[in-house]
Amino acid sequence: MCGIVGYVGNGNASDFLIDGLRRLEYRGYDSAGIAVYDHGEIKIEKKQGRLVNLENVLKDHPLSGHIGIGHTRWATHGKPSDVNAHPHGDCHNHFVIVHNGIIENYMTLKKDLMAKGHVFKSETDTEIVAHVLEEVDDGDFLSTVQKMLTIIEGSYSLVILDAAHPDTIICTKKNNPLIIGLGKGENFIASDIPAVINHTRDIYILQDEELAIVTKGSVQLLDRDGNPIHKEIQKVTWSAAAAEKGGYPHFMLKEIFEQPKAVHDTVAIHLNKDGSVNFDDLGWTKECFEGITNILITACGTAYHAGLVAKHYIERFVKIPVSVEIASEYRYSKPLTSEHTLCIVVSQSGETIDTLEALKEAKRHGARSLAVTNSIGSSIAREADHVVYTLAGPEIAVASTKAYTTQLVALLLLALYMSQLKNSISADLIQKITEGLKDLPKQIEKVLGEKDHMSDVADRLIKAHDIFYLGRSIDYAIAMEGALKLKEVSYIHAESYAAGELKHGTLALITQETPVIAVATQDNVSSKMYSNIQEVKARGAEVLGIGYDDDEEIGKYTTETVRIPRVDPFIAPILSVIPMQLLAYYTSIKRGNDVDKPRNLAKSVTVE
Ligand code: F6R
Repeated sequence: MCGIVGYVGNGNASDFLIDGLRRLEYRGYDSAGIAVYDHGEIKIEKKQGRLVNLENVLKDHPLSGHIGIGHTRWATHGKPSDVNAHPHGDCHNHFVIVHNGIIENYMTLKKDLMAKGHVFKSETDTEIVAHVLEEVDDGDFLSTVQKMLTIIEGSYSLVILDAAHPDTIICTKKNNPLIIGLGKGENFIASDIPAVINHTRDIYILQDEELAIVTKGSVQLLDRDGNPIHKEIQKVTWSAAAAEKGGYPHFMLKEIFEQPKAVHDTVAIHLNKDGSVNFDDLGWTKECFEGITNILITACGTAYHAGLVAKHYIERFVKIPVSVEIASEYRYSKPLTSEHTLCIVVSQSGETIDTLEALKEAKRHGARSLAVTNSIGSSIAREADHVVYTLAGPEIAVASTKAYTTQLVALLLLALYMSQLKNSISADLIQKITEGLKDLPKQIEKVLGEKDHMSDVADRLIKAHDIFYLGRSIDYAIAMEGALKLKEVSYIHAESYAAGELKHGTLALITQETPVIAVATQDNVSSKMYSNIQEVKARGAEVLGIGYDDDEEIGKYTTETVRIPRVDPFIAPILSVIPMQLLAYYTSIKRGNDVDKPRNLAKSVTVE
């Protein structure tokens, strides 16, 4: 949560800070602020609401200087307001900071500092850090920061200005991301790569409890005790254009339309010419699975839904029982995980705190671990024993689309690879599915052709108060993702249901006022699904079916059907989710919502 930027160089700091914040606004957007060392003092401007509000303030009160920090906020402690917006300063704005995370012991510290005469302006946990710095200031910027770090508890990325050292920024992190972009005669700090990509492709990814002393000509990396550390410079491989809208009105639509490429790229790196699957980098052998009696998949939100689909893949192909757990539940569940468990965590950002902690919990119980993530070098990627990267490219819209479909692809390939090692299914079946995966980008293109159709359907849904999403087997997992997508961007209540479960209570809610989306791609349960569609139709519901183009039956029962090409039922979810993504997108924009930045949400959830 929250986007952080910092700049030191010869340029106008405000320009980079505002541009960087715009590119990080997906991380938080309830207030924004910047601080710049301007004519001998650190000046702060901050404003509640979207970044544009801050830009308007800066038109009348520009900040000019060559060093500064900025922040776009997603409120945790203290409501969104001008005064609670970051940056925060101490009593004299001598130390000014921006922060992402939570300072857990702030109440105790605040009481002590108030007793010593410190005056607090905001309700935030963050402001405490500036006052602790002021309290322990010994004139040496680094040692003051080190002392402060021994006092605060919690999670943080922190970027700090010190009025006595107007050429230097110090930053550090724990359980929240922070990168440093290396320029020529200028350096950049940010929570995420899109903020710096227009300026440099060379970055350092800071690890927990590392510190960086950043000036315009140097970046010194240190451990918490001040010992120098060496770190490889990472080259960002994707282009600046990948983090731009590129002619699309919104990132969400662009990212939906990037799925053919994202899926192609994720498939291509794991397929051998003979149709077998290659994850040889993992260094796994048949023997690796000998002691594994169960697989745990844990994740949050959309990534959790990808895990629910993967359960079907793994149980069918690898023949090991799989449990799928919501990470925030798993981590406090006193789990029965053991050294016989393989724990798979799924996370687009690689920074979701609940998923990271669930992974650590599984490891504490002896589990071996693998992360499926879209973020190279992220906390989750580093914590897991093994990593599989999805090649979705940067996903900026808060609602996940291409990251989800690439997670499905990576998990399907992984299940096939495990079954290849274990010899648990035939080479022919593996080849049949991999052939299907090779064709998938073309099939996705075809489904994207349903764009206008889904826009028309959205016209009829925008007034609905409740929408039901039904499916059976894998289609139930997809229905869950469809409902989440609609809820988060359209703000219409949607509920997903295992279609066979409806008559055990929920059918009471179905009337002509409750449109139903019914997914029917799993051949082994399609006749059951048709019956369930008739049950809701008989109660007056309008039903939008999602079925194969050669399915002659489904259209007899639905009000309207959107068609996907006939593919293997294990591949079908990667296609059937696309009409639901489009439907969510159009419903959102037709209701006048900010589809890329839905209310109350942020992209990377690094708080509990
Ligand atoms: C919904 C969405 C969220 C994320 C969830 C986990 O569209 O994006 O539900 O899937 O917050 O995030 P990651 O995958 O970054 O761990």
